[in-house]
Amino acid sequence: MRYEPVIVLLVAVLAMLASSAVSAVEGTACYVGTWAYGRAGNGAFNTSEHLNLDLCSHIIYSFVGIRGDTGEVVSLDERLDYGAGTEETGGLRGFLNFTDLKKKNPNLRTSLAIGGWNEGSEKYSTVSNDPVKRRKFIESTVSLLQEYNFDGFDLDWEYPNQRGGSPVDVENFNTLIREFREEFDKHGYYLSAAVGASSNTADLSYHVPSLSKYLDRIFIMAYDLHGAWDPVTGIHAPLYRTSAYDNTANQALAGLYVDTFVRGWLNRGADPEKIGLGMPTYGKTFRLSDPNNHGVGAPIVPGTGGSAGPYTGESGTLGYNEYCEYKEKNGWTEVWDGEQIGIYAYTTTDWIGLDNQKSLCIKAKYAKDLKLGTAMIWAAETDDFRGVCGPTSHPLLSAIKDGLSSNPTLC
Ligand SMILES: *[C@@H]1O[C@H](CO)[C@@H](O)[C@H](O)[C@H]1NC(C)=O
Ligand SMILES: *[C@@H]1O[C@H](CO)[C@@H](O)[C@H](O)[C@H]1NC(C)=O
Repeated sequence: MRYEPVIVLLVAVLAMLASSAVSAVEGTACYVGTWAYGRAGNGAFNTSEHLNLDLCSHIIYSFVGIRGDTGEVVSLDERLDYGAGTEETGGLRGFLNFTDLKKKNPNLRTSLAIGGWNEGSEKYSTVSNDPVKRRKFIESTVSLLQEYNFDGFDLDWEYPNQRGGSPVDVENFNTLIREFREEFDKHGYYLSAAVGASSNTADLSYHVPSLSKYLDRIFIMAYDLHGAWDPVTGIHAPLYRTSAYDNTANQALAGLYVDTFVRGWLNRGADPEKIGLGMPTYGKTFRLSDPNNHGVGAPIVPGTGGSAGPYTGESGTLGYNEYCEYKEKNGWTEVWDGEQIGIYAYTTTDWIGLDNQKSLCIKAKYAKDLKLGTAMIWAAETDDFRGVCGPTSHPLLSAIKDGLSSNPTLC
């Protein structure tokens, strides 16, 4: 009897601790495009050396693929993923080097991601529609996670019921993640998915309450909202609406912004705590059709991205590391857009819209204020991870950490 008040107090304190734990943003989940190990010069990203474990609370190895005929998970680059650690011994040991990072920080979470844009949708549609293949998918995943010491798995099916998928995908995806959940609960594995951000994709591809129920985290890919497929220039991950498209033929473009999509996910039944808010460490580029017209909403050469970068090598995108390193050399003029939250920059021919330290700090603070579960970036290898452009390495990830803190200094 004497102990009762103590126990009551203890229970109250524990309840307080639990509720404060759920209202805090967990940190940043960092996707890693592991193929970047082979990039030229300063672009080469070595997961053992360049991942900052103070700035990433969760790291996600991208990507593995799937066999449409069996449902089995497969490596997309066996030389990189497997092996004893050197070219001579037959592989670079990518998986194990990655999960070994947990030895440096035991609180780190390591996941393996499957899919991505290039894997398309069709094989995932086929596998999820067949109970035998689904079983193989889940069993082969568990084997892989066990063998290489991952803590979790991330589904990047882009996207159910789109790009060659079919309407039954939406229900089959629910079944797939429910079955994954049941199996993962036996092992304590963490289950997440990367999802298309737009309200259009949320409606076409997902039953949001099921995702919120079965997944530990829903990573909203809140970027690539504008690109050279548009008729005019645009910042691709704007937090807020711009008035730049008002009174033009392109008003519909103004509806593509992060805040409205996040609220769309919440309104459709996503638990805020389950959401990981995605932020880009790269820009989308355009080719200007008139060098004297270089604001947001300026006319472009249709369908033509800006020049490819020296590391990422793809017309239409530039890593932040490429942009910052070549900004002065290539004569970019940079403009802060305080209405949308983001920057754009232009030369006489090219235009880029992207995030900088200030915009990412503001976005992180936004995620914190909405009590979302975590921040997320695509991807670690295009931050200035070597500190080539400024006094510190990882300026973008540092800015996100700052924005999540109780006293941000960068925004
Ligand atoms: C990555 O860094 C580790 C540790 O410094 C080094 O042993 C390894 O050779 C590097 N990997 C590549 C592909 O350069
Ligand atoms: C993994 O680590 C081994 C041993 O340090 C190294 O030789 C190899 O290059 C690393 N792999 C990658 C992809 O960096």
